[in-house]
Amino acid sequence: MTPADLAKEAADALATRTGIHRHAIAVTLGSGWKTAADHIGETVAEIPANEIPGFTASGIPGHSGTLRSVRAQNGEHVLVIGARTHYYEGKGVAAVVHGVRTAAAAGAHTMVLTNGAGGLKPTWTPGQPVLISDHINLTGTSPIIGANFIDLTDLYTNKLRAIARQVAPDLDEGVYTQLSGPHYETPAEVRMVRAIGGDIVGMSTALEAIAAREAGLDVLGLSLITNLAAGLQEGALNHQEVLEAGHAAEQRLGPLLAEIITGILNEEQA
Ligand code: HPA
Repeated sequence: MTPADLAKEAADALATRTGIHRHAIAVTLGSGWKTAADHIGETVAEIPANEIPGFTASGIPGHSGTLRSVRAQNGEHVLVIGARTHYYEGKGVAAVVHGVRTAAAAGAHTMVLTNGAGGLKPTWTPGQPVLISDHINLTGTSPIIGANFIDLTDLYTNKLRAIARQVAPDLDEGVYTQLSGPHYETPAEVRMVRAIGGDIVGMSTALEAIAAREAGLDVLGLSLITNLAAGLQEGALNHQEVLEAGHAAEQRLGPLLAEIITGILNEEQA
């Protein structure tokens, strides 16, 4: 079965299970962004991810594992993907981008990718959300198979970033750099990322954004800076601290993400 066939099967299963045949927007919830779904609107259905073809329940603490259909204020539906597969899980790139492909097969025009990440800009502080303006993919791989030369010039579209800034004018932005993980970076790697133009380090999003664009979706990326990148903060990094920074910011991020999604839906309808 091709990845596209599996995504179609997943979208069909979602339609059957949720009773919703078209989701206008999909959003993948990373660390710190989990409560957003509750702010977007009313949950129509919530399904354990492993009951939808191609999805597996996340084994990572702090990462939930459901797919939700949420009815926004304007009556359209948002697919909330709370089950991200990371590249470091070793399930292959197709598994990593299955959610994005399912979103496209479910009718979405926009993919909102959120994550928790390390920050490199000296002005940033843990707990701060930032927009992704572009990315550097250091995983050494691509979700695209074959000679399909996808343009990534305006991957994290200016149009969607402008909508986000209307909602939150003080949102800064930066270049997301995906490394394969699951280890955090060394301080030397962080200096390298800075030298090549990266502002954010993380272990997701770039591969998903590429697959989203291949599938014809507009992409908005949002990072919660959970920590300063290795070597820029005092002491060591640990996953628990990253999760705690996410929890601490959650109260603020949920409403922010919901407002941005409402802004996108209103713009598309206008
Ligand atoms: N590096 C990579 N991924 C991360 C980090 C980091 O510093 N913080 C949260 N996810």
